[in-house]
Amino acid sequence: MGNTFLNLALLIIFHFSMATISMKLTTILTDQSALLVLKDHVIHDPANVLTTSWSASAPVCNWFGVSCGSKHRRVTALNLSGLGLVGTLPRHLGNLSFLSLLYITNNSFNGRLPVQLSNLQRLKYLSFGINYFSGEIPSWLGSLTELRTLFLYQNNFKGVIPFSLGYLSKLEALYLFENQISGSIPSSIFNISSLQIINLSDNMLSGSIPSVPRDLHSLELIDFTTNNLTDHMPKDMFDHLPNLKELFLSFNLLSGRIPASLFKCKKLQKYLYRITKWRGAYQ
Ligand SMILES: *[C@@H]1O[C@H](CO)[C@@H](O)[C@H](O)[C@H]1NC(C)=O
Ligand SMILES: *[C@@H]1O[C@H](CO)[C@@H](O)[C@H](O)[C@H]1NC(C)=O
Ligand SMILES: *[C@@H]1O[C@H](CO)[C@@H](O)[C@H](O)[C@H]1NC(C)=O
Ligand SMILES: *[C@@H]1O[C@H](CO)[C@@H](O)[C@H](O)[C@H]1NC(C)=O
Ligand SMILES: *[C@@H]1O[C@H](CO)[C@@H](O)[C@H](O)[C@H]1NC(C)=O
Ligand SMILES: *[C@@H]1O[C@H](CO)[C@@H](O)[C@H](O)[C@H]1NC(C)=O
Repeated sequence: MGNTFLNLALLIIFHFSMATISMKLTTILTDQSALLVLKDHVIHDPANVLTTSWSASAPVCNWFGVSCGSKHRRVTALNLSGLGLVGTLPRHLGNLSFLSLLYITNNSFNGRLPVQLSNLQRLKYLSFGINYFSGEIPSWLGSLTELRTLFLYQNNFKGVIPFSLGYLSKLEALYLFENQISGSIPSSIFNISSLQIINLSDNMLSGSIPSVPRDLHSLELIDFTTNNLTDHMPKDMFDHLPNLKELFLSFNLLSGRIPASLFKCKKLQKYLYRITKWRGAYQ
């Protein structure tokens, strides 16, 4: 009886540890194979970085641009910025489930962002800036609710800014400048209370500037320069931006007066000289 019980207990412990081992093996191998698929999708690697460093004979965590968590040894950061890489992003990147930073900035990646990236629920810092990505800005980005930075600047994104980006309740910086984004700025954007910097300049945004429904204590910088924004600025535009430091609205089709509530932005006053650069708003 006691013996049977002991055997059973050992069996359970054995099963449990095998399961743990195989889970660990699968998971770091999953990260490795996802990265090797990415390597396959890179058709030009001018500095031979991936060619030399990303080899199955070296531990993944030692590969160039890859960082792993100290406890669980899973890939937590991938930074391939400024390597001149040409290629596309494979769906397999969505398997890097521990990733919290993904920086692909300043390369020549093209194509669309694979929907599988929406699996990366731990992502905090995401940059695809300075590439040739195209298609619409995917609405699933709004499901990456841990995001602090979302950098999609200097690409070929078209279409509208998805309303869902307003669900990124921890977002601090939104850079969408220098794309071909059209439509109006969704009202949800000024609902993100953690937002510090928003730069949408050099797009084809139209319609009026949405109003700011509640205090955005963190918002310090708004740049909507060079778009086709029309209409008056909302009267209450500056009622809820107590810490606004810089505001750029030049080269739009705005009309009417600057709302008097601007003087509620106490921190802006030392930057008031920038207003002289405004066009349209003062006609
Ligand atoms: C990414 O790598 C580049 C080049 O090695 C470096 O300059 C940059 O600071 C890194 N960015 C992050 C967020 O780690
Ligand atoms: C982009 O990367 C290239 C190297 O590939 C570098 O020369 C250039 O300065 C980088 N540009 C920016 C804006 O970081
Ligand atoms: C990783 O993702 C790809 C495509 O999304 C899938 O086909 C593959 O089976 C996934 N799993 C592993 C363990 O590589
Ligand atoms: C703003 O956020 C509140 C909750 O925080 C939500 O009820 C409301 O629908 C949001 N409005 C917009 C325009 O996103
Ligand atoms: C916003 O992005 C543009 C690039 O189109 C850049 O020139 C500008 O300096 C940025 N605005 C601020 C305030 O950093
Ligand atoms: C603004 O609209 C005009 C006329 O529709 C167009 O020619 C121009 O390219 C637009 N500018 C921007 C920055 O979208």
